[in-house]
Amino acid sequence: MNTQTLTALVNTDSEHLAGSLSTINPAPLAPAIITVSAEERAKLTKTGKALKEIYGNCENPAFISMLHLNAFKILPERIARLLSRMGADFSAQQYGAIVLKGLVDVDQEELGPTPASWREMDPEKLVEYGFISALLHGVVPSKPVEYFAQRRGGGLLHAIIPDNNMAWSQTGSGSRTDLFVHTEDAFLFNAADFLSFLYLRNEEQVPSMLYSIRSHGKPGPALECLFEPIYKCPKDANYDTDEALGEGVHTSVLYGNRNTPFIRFDAAEQIYNKEAGQLPEAMENLVNFWREAKTLIYNDFIPEAGDMIFVNNHLCAHGRSAFTAGYRNENGRMVKCERRLMLRMMSKTSLIGIQSVAHPENPYLVMEEHYGKVYDPARV
Ligand SMILES: [Fe+2]
Repeated sequence: MNTQTLTALVNTDSEHLAGSLSTINPAPLAPAIITVSAEERAKLTKTGKALKEIYGNCENPAFISMLHLNAFKILPERIARLLSRMGADFSAQQYGAIVLKGLVDVDQEELGPTPASWREMDPEKLVEYGFISALLHGVVPSKPVEYFAQRRGGGLLHAIIPDNNMAWSQTGSGSRTDLFVHTEDAFLFNAADFLSFLYLRNEEQVPSMLYSIRSHGKPGPALECLFEPIYKCPKDANYDTDEALGEGVHTSVLYGNRNTPFIRFDAAEQIYNKEAGQLPEAMENLVNFWREAKTLIYNDFIPEAGDMIFVNNHLCAHGRSAFTAGYRNENGRMVKCERRLMLRMMSKTSLIGIQSVAHPENPYLVMEEHYGKVYDPARV
């Protein structure tokens, strides 16, 4: 048998194998939903309170420098295994997000009313949740970081609260419009690797949206053109228009492995923002891709207090449906309720990888402003 025949046979066999594997393992269309047991929840809730007593908050250098060791020692083993596996699985079967249902007990009375915006939130009330979130990132293993581009840093844990003054915006503080799916900080080269969203309240019953690049299966023509570095992404709606425009960097939407790619994408900024300044070819590709992607959005999950969504930001985008903050639907009647309250943490798997854009005196603070452009550290 000559080499050509052998290669042809191997290719036919491997195509056949890939075909049968994709029949056995269809593309993932939804995150795994893991129900945390009462015992695991009690252990985690107790851990959060105990770490608060010892370290004060999760940014304490004595805690954060020992994060990985603590994470593997303290977390319930099943949860540690799940997240550790997710940290090294970028396969065709990895959706890129998991839901941890009932991760912590939330004492609603102790939490008190939801303030008007994140600025008025008492950080002391969130400290124990910060420890638990940090441990989950730590076990991936990944290191919690903060971004100057978001709230000028603002700490490792951000409270996301609907703000009436920003109700119509495409930001975490918005509410009245659908928040289109996006990977976090798609306008940065050094966006977070992993994200966690811990829901302390969602009485309005707002569904969370997730969209995974893996849901398409093996990339077809609508996806292949997204590897071209021809796409722009303005900074997000947290910025004024003048400040958000002006940078001419073009990037690809997909990157990494051609068969199992990573994604950097923001529907609102790259497609719906009229000022995005995409080339006609780029816009056409984006619109074609979005037509397919929209049908793959998962929005069946309505988080409850104590639930967490843990996301690989290179595989899975997130968003949420529009809602009326502070009101829930009870048998067709809108009844007042406490407003939504969610806690976000972001992390990078390598601190070394971000030091070219990190604050010179704080290796955990990313100073990237827009695709490689860096804020002046003197602004901190
Ligand atoms: Fe986001």
